[in-house]
Amino acid sequence: MKAVIVIGGSKGIGNAIVSNLISNHKVINISRTAPSQTHENLIHISADVLNDELPDIEAADSLIYCPGSINLKPISGLSIDDFREDYEINVLGAVKAIQKYLPSLKKSETPSILLFSTVAAKLGMPFHASIAAAKSGVEGLVKSLGAELAPKIRVNAIAPTVTDTELASKLLRNEKMIDAITERHPLKKFLNPQEVAKMALFLISDNAASLSGQIFEMDCGIVSFKI
Ligand SMILES: NC(=O)c1ccc[n+]([C@@H]2O[C@H](COP(=O)([O-])OP(=O)(O)OC[C@H]3O[C@@H](n4cnc5c(N)ncnc54)[C@H](OP(=O)(O)O)[C@@H]3O)[C@@H](O)[C@H]2O)c1
Repeated sequence: MKAVIVIGGSKGIGNAIVSNLISNHKVINISRTAPSQTHENLIHISADVLNDELPDIEAADSLIYCPGSINLKPISGLSIDDFREDYEINVLGAVKAIQKYLPSLKKSETPSILLFSTVAAKLGMPFHASIAAAKSGVEGLVKSLGAELAPKIRVNAIAPTVTDTELASKLLRNEKMIDAITERHPLKKFLNPQEVAKMALFLISDNAASLSGQIFEMDCGIVSFKI
C-alpha cells in the first residue's frame, strides 16, 4: 500500500483528499487539529507546520501540502506582515515540508509532490495582491523543483477557483454571494472539495507518470474563457 503524507488534511480540500485516500493508502496527516474521520490506515500527528518541528516519517510515496490563505484587501490595507504571513503559510511551509520529507520520498519507486496554487496567480483580480504574490511563489517552486528533482520525483500543483471550504466561507456566506460567484464562472459553478480531491488523487497516481512541473487550473472556465 502506498503511503501519502498530507499536510492539512483535517479540513477542506485536504480532508476530502484524506477521505478519498484512506481505503487503499496509508495516510499520515499533519495538521493542528485532527480530521473528524478515523480509519486503520490513517495516522494523525498534531503539528503547526510553521512553528513546530515536523515529525520524522521513514518513507512515503507522496507529499501533499494543503495549508493556504485567502486574505483579500486593497493594497493600501495590506501590511507588510500580511504579505509575510501569506508567504510563510503558502510558500515557506511547503518548502519546510519538502525539505523535511525529501529523503523519505526518495525511497519510493514513484514519488510525487502536490502543492496548491489559486486561479488568482494567473487571473488579475483586485484585492488579491498578497495571495497572488504568494501563490506565484508556489508556482515558481513547482517549476523549479519539478526540473531539479526530475526524473525521480514529480512535482505539480492544482490552482483551484473558489472551493466550498471553511477557508472560502467568507466568500460564500449568503445566497446572493453564492449566486454571484456561480454566475461569474463560465461553467456556472464553483468547486466542491471532493472534485478537487479526485484531481489530487489522479496527480499523485501512476496514471500521471508523465506529468511534472505543471499547474492544473481547476477554474470552471474563469481563467480559460472570456464569454
Ligand atoms: N477554498 C478555496 O476557495 C481555495 C481557492 C484557491 C486556492 N485554494 C487553496 O487550496 C488549498 C486548500 O484550501 P482549503 O480551502 O481546503 O483550506 P482550509 O479549509 O483552510 O484547510 C486548510 C488545512 O490546512 C491546515 N493548516 C492550516 N494552517 C496550518 C498550519 N500552520 N500547520 C498545519 N496545518 C495547517 C488546516 O488544519 P488545522 O486548522 O487543523 O491546522 C486545514 O486542514 C490552500 O492552499 C488554498 O490556498 C483554496
